[in-house]
Amino acid sequence: MSDQLKYIKENRDRFLEELKELLRIPSISADSAYKKDVMAAAEGVGKSLKSAGADKVEICPTPGYPIVYGEKIIDPKLPTVLVYGHYDVQPADPIDLWDNDPFDPVIKKTEIHPEGAIFARGACDDKGQMFMHVKALEVMMQTNTLSCNVKFMIEGEEEVGSVNLGWFVERNKEKLASDVILISDTGMLANDVPSITTGLRGLSYVEVKVTGPNRDLHSGLYGGAVANPINILTQMIASLMDENNHITIPGFYDDVIEISKEERAEMAKAPHSDEDYKRKLKINDVHGEKGYSTPERASIRPTLDVNGIWGGYMGEGAKTVIASEAFAKISMRLVPDQHPDKITKLFKDHFESIAPNSVTVEVTPHHGGDPYVSPTDNRGYKAASAAYEDTFGKKPIPVRSGGSIPIVALFERELGVKSILMGFGLDTDAIHSPNEHYGVFNYFKGIETIPQFFKHFAEMED
Ligand code: BES
Ligand code: MN
Ligand code: MN
Repeated sequence: MSDQLKYIKENRDRFLEELKELLRIPSISADSAYKKDVMAAAEGVGKSLKSAGADKVEICPTPGYPIVYGEKIIDPKLPTVLVYGHYDVQPADPIDLWDNDPFDPVIKKTEIHPEGAIFARGACDDKGQMFMHVKALEVMMQTNTLSCNVKFMIEGEEEVGSVNLGWFVERNKEKLASDVILISDTGMLANDVPSITTGLRGLSYVEVKVTGPNRDLHSGLYGGAVANPINILTQMIASLMDENNHITIPGFYDDVIEISKEERAEMAKAPHSDEDYKRKLKINDVHGEKGYSTPERASIRPTLDVNGIWGGYMGEGAKTVIASEAFAKISMRLVPDQHPDKITKLFKDHFESIAPNSVTVEVTPHHGGDPYVSPTDNRGYKAASAAYEDTFGKKPIPVRSGGSIPIVALFERELGVKSILMGFGLDTDAIHSPNEHYGVFNYFKGIETIPQFFKHFAEMED
């Protein structure tokens, strides 16, 4: 057994306990009531980086939540790996649907995680995955095997659109200089099917408001004669997709890069079963754009989804009313080379243009983000692939993910450095949902695989 494996084995319980401690802090960036906790999580990450052996650990202030920085420069001539992750988490609600307190982690066995999984908000996204890098640093320091310089940049606003990370990156380009960015904030296909994420979708997120009469009206006295904003809003939304689930906004697909037949055939080799997929989600059928498979629909094709819709009477019982206003939050996942600002404008122009004269429509943009793809023939990918081969005994499959980490495209633009997405979560780990969890197997596999990445990256030629 290697020294690294021995060290991981001997410290297994403590590595789990330390992660649990971080998970006990409810660092919900979206809710200002948790401000102290978000700050406490930053402090906690800083402390663990220090005790893992990082130098120059700083809690760097930004106009929002701070960025935790730390580094270990062993030799300026060696390559430098910049690790990115986030210590903030999604809100836990609906709390009622959790089987345990989301901020009191428990380890339980599941069908997919026979060795157990840690159940807590942030267990997989992203505290558990980010913390693997802190522990991997400790392993490399304690076994004298650190083979690259390493820098950490751990932020606290990822779940609210990384509003201040761009600000920080622009001001600290030198400090963040590196040869590769390493991120564990995505997933892999299955515990026995390792994969590396080679693409992320972008995002355009808008809120719409439809206003009708100047006050809520009696639906008997006025119903049938006045435009009902909720009826209108739902009709407008329904018209955004045609019978083939193709988005109808003019120009929406103009910049979409169509994937070649060869690449689609390559993608189709990744194991997937619609039957399993349906069973796990308890749905009778899958649904999506005509002409594409389920994995394609959820990765290489853009989408439009209503994330929330409200208006009118929502209390107990019935109230006969025509509401004066109706609202919806709509997200569009984007693929290369779609641009979020352009798509937001296309949406706004189109949505306003289809509104009948009887209502007024307002479209307010929220945060957005660029899509990302990374090649599989560069040094970073090859090093990652070799690392998975070492620890899983098989070559990982390159997979484009449907999720978004908007900052990854910004890193490439601002720092000129590609990111390697070594995610160890599973799609079924329920990130952003009740009962989020992270496999104990996955946690330790990550801690084991990361040092192999460092080793191969140092050994490989550019
Ligand atoms: N870690 C996720 C993104 C992710 C998860 C990518 C799994 C690929 C696989 C990240 O924390 C996240 O939730 N991103 C948001 C976007 C953000 C702007 C709020 C998302 O994808 O909805
Ligand atoms: Mn995340
Ligand atoms: Mn997330």
